[in-house]
Amino acid sequence: MAEADMAHVLVFPVPAQGHLNSFLHFSTGLLRAGLHVTFLHTDHNLRRLGAAAREAAAASPRLRFLSIPDGLPDDDPRAVDGLPRLVQALSTTGAAAYRDLLASLRRRGSAANDEFPPVTCVVADGIMPFAWDIAEELGVPAIAYRTVSACSVLAYLSVPRLVERGELPFPNGGGDLDEPVRGVPGMESFLRRRDLPIQFRSLTDTYQDPLLKAVVAATVDSCRARALMLNTTASLEGPSLAHLAEEMRDVFAIGPLHAMSPAPAVATSLWRHDDGCTAWLDGQAERSVVYISLGSLTVISYKQFTEFLHGLVATGYPFLWVLRPDMLGASQDAALQEALSALGEGRGLVVPWAPQRDVLRHRAVGSFLTHSGWNSTIEGVVEGVPMVCWPFFADQQINSRFVGAVWRNGLDMKDVCERGVVEKTVREAMESDEVRSSARALAEQVQRDITDGGSSAMEFKRLVGFIRELSS
Ligand code: UDX
Repeated sequence: MAEADMAHVLVFPVPAQGHLNSFLHFSTGLLRAGLHVTFLHTDHNLRRLGAAAREAAAASPRLRFLSIPDGLPDDDPRAVDGLPRLVQALSTTGAAAYRDLLASLRRRGSAANDEFPPVTCVVADGIMPFAWDIAEELGVPAIAYRTVSACSVLAYLSVPRLVERGELPFPNGGGDLDEPVRGVPGMESFLRRRDLPIQFRSLTDTYQDPLLKAVVAATVDSCRARALMLNTTASLEGPSLAHLAEEMRDVFAIGPLHAMSPAPAVATSLWRHDDGCTAWLDGQAERSVVYISLGSLTVISYKQFTEFLHGLVATGYPFLWVLRPDMLGASQDAALQEALSALGEGRGLVVPWAPQRDVLRHRAVGSFLTHSGWNSTIEGVVEGVPMVCWPFFADQQINSRFVGAVWRNGLDMKDVCERGVVEKTVREAMESDEVRSSARALAEQVQRDITDGGSSAMEFKRLVGFIRELSS
């Protein structure tokens, strides 16, 4: 085997949809560069993915999927309010299984290891510090990969400083949410309380929310990893990346990875794509459709659903709406019926899950109403589609601020869910030349970043060299 082929990376994402997609695109890049990849799933997800994962592995002889238990009972919903439980269970039960597996994979000749060289490097999700600590204890160098924006990582990293400056916790219930926040470097002129993760608003002690506490701690801990990798580009987030580089051992901005990777996200899709979307879009006029998707974790109330529905219908534009089966809890069936009857013949389509990448690049799509998850944000950026942002939690609040106030490729509807505002904001996103031309310019810039000689393409090469060096 040639020396370069001996580099074998074990990638270990948080077992949630956005993270899985991002890690798959990264893995595809590594495979293209000639490295071996072991993609570590949880037993639960690997069962759920079934044939799609098997087919993806069969198509690439240097890729395999292995799994460990996540430590939760099988019937646990693992949805948004289960996320802290999942991360906690992974860092205990899951960590023990991961340690045993990695110990065996770094030796030659174990049963799971026959076809592959020993694991030489771990790339672990940046919110699971135990994964890189265990790897280093076993003598395997480890890199942290945060699947979110650089600006959000910088905001989490700045939390101790915000506490020191008295900017956190906010006064009761958040106080005036338009109050500026000055303690995140480079964002002094536009960041407000409402642009920080929503969990901050109700805290009397900044660290009382378990998920937030874990994310802040993991961000601070990433300074210990050999490097921090981010699915972003210098042209989108140069200033935030420069500040992060002062704190981390090394930083690689290598995104948007999905745009460099031909891998169909179906290999990591936990829901089945509705195949009718593209055919339906084919029958619509150019840039006439509003695409609505709030990602894999957002849940909404029946009231919010109704406001969205009425606002959308009032715009007069046809729409394609992803209503995940677990999105509205007990109101799901009623909501679906209501949406279907409001749509009328040919006016729109409601699906449980869409092939988002194909949808966003379709000529019929004129705007994207999104929760501003990082994958969705960069997918929208790459296709130059104007966005209406309605962030739900975590990094989404700050991502949407960047869309509305920094990149100006969309409008930030944060914290408001009223039919009149939905109608007005969607109309503006569909009709504003200014927003559309910013979205186009941004897409062109990002395209330059990922093509040969562009900043992300060069950073990816540097990262592969770094991994090979760590592996030798
Ligand atoms: C959340 C965070 O907000 C995100 O920033 C973080 O990186 C992971 O956790 P999520 O709700 O999953 O993410 O949103 P997002 O990051 O946008 O990822 C959703 C993914 O699912 C995207 O890649 C999107 O293309 C895909 N998707 C979504 C579909 O393929 N079909 C759909 O119908 C909806």
